[in-house]
Amino acid sequence: MSKPLVSIIMGSSNDWEIMRQAAQQLKNFSVAYDARVISAHRSPDLLFDYIKEVTENGVQCFIAGAGGAAHLAGVIAGKTTLPVLGVPIPSKYLKGMDSLLSIVQMPKGIPVATFTIGEAGAANAGLFAISMLALNNAQLAHQLTEYRKKQAIMIAETVLPELP
Ligand code: RP5
Repeated sequence: MSKPLVSIIMGSSNDWEIMRQAAQQLKNFSVAYDARVISAHRSPDLLFDYIKEVTENGVQCFIAGAGGAAHLAGVIAGKTTLPVLGVPIPSKYLKGMDSLLSIVQMPKGIPVATFTIGEAGAANAGLFAISMLALNNAQLAHQLTEYRKKQAIMIAETVLPELP
């Protein structure tokens, strides 16, 4: 098994249904990742230990998914200078607007690249991580170009149904 290049962290196992979309994109492109449940407020010591361990072992970026008062991505960004990609998890009452605002409103100086709420955000965070890795990996860059071509073909070949 090759060393993980991307670390996916989520605040709760309940976030996996969304965050698996990020993992799936990385898997599709054969990018090694490590996915963990670690909470910034329920297990802060574990979070700090884990960040230290994976950064020493060659991880290139973090994808962090959290919901509600979602401080996970910001806390990770405070502990590392590696890029942190934040995914707002849909929440029960505020539908993820709380998660989105918590992640996107990082004060100046400690950035978190914030994606849209839910599955699309998680998938795009995975694709964005791949784009960053592709800057120094011609094979990945080629795979990304092919992936985009397939999307363009699907659109071009779409035929709308006849009206009744
Ligand atoms: C956050 O609180 C997690 O990211 C999760 O989205 C939210 C609710 O957690 P659970 O109560 O579902 O474990 O830490």
